Amino acid sequence: MIPKISTLSGYLHEYQKSLANPVGFWSNIAETFYWRKPWTKTLEWDFKDPKVTWFKDGKLNITENIFERHLFLRGNQTALIWEPNNPDEAHRSYTYRELYEEVNKFAGVLRSLGVQKGDRVAIYLPMIPELAIAMLACARIGAIHSIVFAGFSAKALAERNNDAQAKILITADGGYRGNKIIPLKETSDEALQMSQSIEKVIVVKRTGQDVNMDKKRDVWWHDLMKNAPQKAPAEIMDAEDTLFILYTSGSTGKPKGVLHTTGGYMVYAAYTFKNVFQYRPNDIYFCAADIGWITGHSYIIYGPLLEGATTIMFEGIPTYPQPDRYWQIIEKHQVNQFYTSPTAIRALLAQGETWVDKYEMNSLRVLGTVGEPINEEAWHWYHDHVGKGRCPIVDTWWQTETGGIMISPLAGIIPTKPAYATLPLPGIRPVIVDNDGNKIYGKNVEGNLCIEFPWPGMARSLWGNHERYKQAYFSTFPGLYFTGDGVKRDEDGYYRILGRIDDVINVSGHRLGTAEIENALNEHPLVAESAVVGMPHPIKGQGIYAYVVAPDKPDNLDDELRNSLVKAVAKLISPIAKPDQIQFVSGLPKTRSGKIMRRILRKIVEGSTDFGDTSTLTNPEIVEELTEGYRKLNIDDK
Ligand code: WT7
Repeated sequence: MIPKISTLSGYLHEYQKSLANPVGFWSNIAETFYWRKPWTKTLEWDFKDPKVTWFKDGKLNITENIFERHLFLRGNQTALIWEPNNPDEAHRSYTYRELYEEVNKFAGVLRSLGVQKGDRVAIYLPMIPELAIAMLACARIGAIHSIVFAGFSAKALAERNNDAQAKILITADGGYRGNKIIPLKETSDEALQMSQSIEKVIVVKRTGQDVNMDKKRDVWWHDLMKNAPQKAPAEIMDAEDTLFILYTSGSTGKPKGVLHTTGGYMVYAAYTFKNVFQYRPNDIYFCAADIGWITGHSYIIYGPLLEGATTIMFEGIPTYPQPDRYWQIIEKHQVNQFYTSPTAIRALLAQGETWVDKYEMNSLRVLGTVGEPINEEAWHWYHDHVGKGRCPIVDTWWQTETGGIMISPLAGIIPTKPAYATLPLPGIRPVIVDNDGNKIYGKNVEGNLCIEFPWPGMARSLWGNHERYKQAYFSTFPGLYFTGDGVKRDEDGYYRILGRIDDVINVSGHRLGTAEIENALNEHPLVAESAVVGMPHPIKGQGIYAYVVAPDKPDNLDDELRNSLVKAVAKLISPIAKPDQIQFVSGLPKTRSGKIMRRILRKIVEGSTDFGDTSTLTNPEIVEELTEGYRKLNIDDK
């Protein structure tokens, strides 16, 4: 069994142990898993020319650690509870044995279609059980899954499939989301026009809507499963073989294929799940994220199932049919741990207290948040109204690249403080550096958050582009992993995450690159240039503010152009990337080398006039125009 920390002194002891002897610390944890062949060396690493190897030469399959390792003890225990979008539809449950059988069958299907170890399989599915089955089936046969969030556009899907050179696409006819139906097959067809590598498309029937099926290319999931072999032996993987890639936004326009490997990711996802949430046997755990993001990978599927937990997968949204859907699910399934995002909490808070106060939710023991900084008001509301003052909140800081939670309270063990992620997990060594890369020690300090020592769950590369991996994470502060976040360490040594300090914005907990939104805006024939920044937003955390230079725009067409730009972004990226505000400007503040001075653009939308040194601008007069324009849109009009 994975070691479990149960007291504050236990945490301090484990943390010290992990500093003094990281190799011994992680070996002890890794030994609790099922390895086909033990590793020969626990850790080799280099953060200069970045290369990290955990559990060298170890052989395993992660699905044997989910299934074979648990079947004897808990074959009949519920592994997965699927709760549909519409509460009138029946929920579905899978025991460990049933899920194992489905995964085996689908693994056999993939093999029969010629999928081999190392091939990439793109998954573009709504939150239905087939998504869990498909990803685990990939892991079973050593195929690399690349899950694309079902809210992404055809272009975004095609771009990811092309970069990954995916061979198979798994999608559905459509997906339910609140009162909307998302035409996934139609969007997939459009994406397939833009990508060549996909040979076969497997289509799950969910909504039953009419879809186009290409006779040579497209096959129904249920047809394939009818004749599937019952058993698919697990592919034996090296600890450092790729388990999956997951695309995320960076500071340039092109999404990055974050690459996670088998052994280290497994150990880290399971260890952090058990300790942060203090999961106990027979607990019911509910993470409301989407599996299209890393939170769903690590804390709906891999972490919980590796620990033999019962995990809930929810198809819908918190406000459908009414804004008490989460509370309903918590009571219906007697949920013990609930994990969601600050955006969801703020949105539900805005609906008023009566929706949540009706529910007792006595089963709840732990609440979690992830994805963005949580403001104190939302923290207190979550604590008082959802947790009824009884449940500790774990504010978990981590990233797609970290694979699992890095800085967080352990529920009920580390005293919490609103808006603080508190302390690093054992094995994690955060450092704060100033802009010149000097480490800042002591308390009450602020700076750039870096990690100075490897951990098993860290991303090993970016798909097909190791140089970009080095550039993005290891070159800003040589010798350190740079997170892109600003952070404060207070008088108790607690960490508070201040948000991104690069050109990445965090909208409703979704990570977006400003450059990708700018690229989408710039495709419009009337747009010469644009610059996008995050602006404070009461619900979404950050909203999207776009400064757009459109010199040939007719004067009376501002609103029309705004509308078509918003539509274009939704179409080219996703509705989640739609600008909240567009300001037409005659130019952007630029330095002599032609670089946009984004600091100024950010200050304006924060309502600040403290622009710092603007002497290097070639067009300093533009600042006043932008500030005035912002005022007109935001202050004078309201
Ligand atoms: C960025 C990573 C990790 C799963 C979801 C997001 C921000 C994440 C917190 C938190 C403040 C947070 C950071 C980070 N973030 N968790 N608890 N408090 N900020 O994954 O899309 O890779 O985004 O989300 O800015 O760098 P992601």
